[in-house]
Amino acid sequence: MPQGRRQGGAPMAWGKGQIVKQALRTAPEDYAAFEAVNLAGRGGVRVLDVGCFDGFNTYLKFAPYAGVARVVGVDPLPEAVAEAATRTAGDARFSFACSTFEDYEPEAGERFDLVYFSHVLQHLPDPQAALSKACRLLVPGGFVVVKTTDDAAKLSYPDPEQVMRRLFDLYERHVLPNTPHTACTDRCNGEKCYTLMRRAGLGNVAVRQFAADTCGKTLEERHALFERCVYFRRNVPACVDEGTAAEIYALVEAWGTLFDQDDYYFVTQSFVAIGQKPQEGASPWKYAGPVFESASEAFRKPQEVQTEARPRGGAPLAPADAPAVAIRPLAERDLGAVMAIEVASFRDPWTPLAFALDLRHNPCAHYTAAFTEGGLAGYLGWWGAPDGAAIVRVAVDPARRKAGVGRALVEQAVRDARAGGHGVLTLEVRAGNAQARGFYTRLGFQEAAVRSAYYEDPPDDAVIMALPLG
Ligand SMILES: C[S@@+](CC[C@H](N)C(=O)[O-])C[C@H]1O[C@@H](n2cnc3c(N)ncnc32)[C@H](O)[C@@H]1O
Repeated sequence: MPQGRRQGGAPMAWGKGQIVKQALRTAPEDYAAFEAVNLAGRGGVRVLDVGCFDGFNTYLKFAPYAGVARVVGVDPLPEAVAEAATRTAGDARFSFACSTFEDYEPEAGERFDLVYFSHVLQHLPDPQAALSKACRLLVPGGFVVVKTTDDAAKLSYPDPEQVMRRLFDLYERHVLPNTPHTACTDRCNGEKCYTLMRRAGLGNVAVRQFAADTCGKTLEERHALFERCVYFRRNVPACVDEGTAAEIYALVEAWGTLFDQDDYYFVTQSFVAIGQKPQEGASPWKYAGPVFESASEAFRKPQEVQTEARPRGGAPLAPADAPAVAIRPLAERDLGAVMAIEVASFRDPWTPLAFALDLRHNPCAHYTAAFTEGGLAGYLGWWGAPDGAAIVRVAVDPARRKAGVGRALVEQAVRDARAGGHGVLTLEVRAGNAQARGFYTRLGFQEAAVRSAYYEDPPDDAVIMALPLG
């Protein structure tokens, strides 16, 4: 296990890379909450994202929803807010204010339909006051969504020396108070969010827990979980005395060795809470309970990688130094990474719910995900109908194009559709997209028909391309 790192100055308790990973990995939890409040079915929605940091999570979570009309992010870090503005410059719905939430007042008495706290309520000096303020800033019937954590909901067994608890204790007493914007961190915020929300005047409060544990995991998976949970505890600021820093690093090492034992049990939980501002005369809101509940399915054990999509002969698919591409079925737990690619690739991205419904309920839908070393690199969906199979969605991470990922995905779809007994595989592509047409032609597809004026924004014809599978 890697050693701890002593940081000069006062580092952030959370790093940028960690925030991105966390936002992608746990996105299905937020999407489940948004599904429960029917975000995909609403229009003209105004969102306030409290503690938006650099806007990565803000954009990932709200850009896919066409009914979201305006998103305001608030954060006290000037560089982070500037980066958020740059990141979302192409989407006029997003704007950012550099302020603490305590000092923030919306312009012209604006009110919101959704106030969102993602991993921020635990950092606020007075979470009760913050939730009361959120309630004041909502329109009647509007929602608060809180995502938070709780160290008391982390279990470690067998841990006879209590290394996990001792590490958390040192971190809380010596690291957090010496780190900007975390001096007030409440590491046991999760258990309180129901009561805090009720006392803030919110009704219809629902709380769900999402767990990740070592149960039945491989050594590699257990180490990955350890790294995920220990990350913050490695960042010891230089102002912490030598003796305490050494003790923290020793506890990090000792805790890491527990994860080497395949009968060691560790569980960590995040909490997602929804509350609604009461609306006079309105009947109580019923969340789409089963949907919110079933989001935990997104955390099922990953399925084994099914196919090594590297060519075994014939013409090379990609440059010789291209990374290996591994293909497996797409799962709901991939939705965070899928949406990041989706919003980067399309002007009219599908919503997370559109993917989730297809994965859950459409027996004709087949989705595959392609992974390279950096994680999800692309995905493809095809539907099998009696008269043939059709590719309905395909996207590759813009940063990992021209590396054989798209080709591996299409070739896998060809194999799967053929194995499913389909005689032809079709797809449609913009007539103006010469690059895509050339790509599919090289894979053996032929142009079969044209649908005039099929696309809008910008207007274009659709070319139907077909590959006989016989
Ligand atoms: C752990 S980060 C979470 C970022 C983002 N919401 C996410 O989930 O990826 C916490 C953020 O809360 C911000 N924050 C801390 N104190 C705050 C306050 N009083 N008001 C608003 N934001 C605050 C920090 O600057 C930081 O960007």
